[in-house]
Amino acid sequence: MTAPTMESTIGALLAARKGILAADESLPTIKKRFADINVPSTEESRRSYREMLFTTRGLDEFISGVILFDETLRQKAKDGVLMPETLVEQGMLPGIKVDKGAVVLANFADEKITQGLDGLRERLKEYRELGACFTKWRAVITIGEHIPTRTCIEANAEALAMFAGLSQEAGLVPIVEPEVLMDGNHSIGRCEEVTTVTLNSVFAALFEHRVVLEQMLLKTGMVLSGKDCAQKADVPEVAEATILCLLRSVPAAVPGIVFLSGGQSDEAATQRLNAICRVSDVPWRLSFSFGRALQAPAMKIWKGSADNVAAAQEALHHRAKCNGLAVEGKYSEQMESAHT
Ligand code: 13P
Repeated sequence: MTAPTMESTIGALLAARKGILAADESLPTIKKRFADINVPSTEESRRSYREMLFTTRGLDEFISGVILFDETLRQKAKDGVLMPETLVEQGMLPGIKVDKGAVVLANFADEKITQGLDGLRERLKEYRELGACFTKWRAVITIGEHIPTRTCIEANAEALAMFAGLSQEAGLVPIVEPEVLMDGNHSIGRCEEVTTVTLNSVFAALFEHRVVLEQMLLKTGMVLSGKDCAQKADVPEVAEATILCLLRSVPAAVPGIVFLSGGQSDEAATQRLNAICRVSDVPWRLSFSFGRALQAPAMKIWKGSADNVAAAQEALHHRAKCNGLAVEGKYSEQMESAHT
């Protein structure tokens, strides 16, 4: 496999009607997800689940790339072909989560810092050799009474910028992901404020670290009311707040912004994505990089059994199609009832 250039990777990832599948759950996260369907998390159960996802026929019509976890990049599909090559055969680009997770920030008990910079240059070289074309690093920002602090935002922004610089040095497109969590009872206004401060801090750090904005993607949350907020903003309000916030904070040189789903239900995430993408007058391409909102129905059907593979793949294909249409602002709720 000859490695594509960063320009061609970005072009492929942002192709019309397509988005990214995030299948890069860390070991503790996939264990939690599998526990919900009573499947033990073993190397083989994780392998066969992800093979089920990646070999869904026609997935490449709506999915341009897949973010993998380190273990998956080294695993093989049943036919003995390595997972990254399996993805390429299926018409999708392999990417890799390169951070090592978020831990408590010393002296800031309620806040997190993402680790994984030590040895990253060497790991990136290996990931490229294993076939990865792009990378992801996730920072976590929590909203609470006196948080996030500037210290937490700036420490995470600095780490994101160093990750992005190293990734571009290795010829791998960085997906820079500062996630503002939905947890809490905050209003949509508070989410907008925190997302704005966070994005401004991230782009200041990216500038200081000489990261080439044209060769990266931003992955961010939608601007939403907190999960436990009594008065939830509706879909048009979410779309308006999200677009306004991004216009104020994200330079036009960034080629694309992909949204995470962050614990929204699959249908809510699609509806909001559709409304956001309907706003046509923006300088970047907008799309999705969903984990849960793409996988949840498929995982529930799969339950670890080979007998359920075809039905689970059908459910994944349906969500990918709904989100692919949402990127074009062409999703309608009737697509859900027509499917069930
Ligand atoms: P969710 O869409 O489930 O939030 O996952 C996206 C992701 O990659 C988080 O890092």
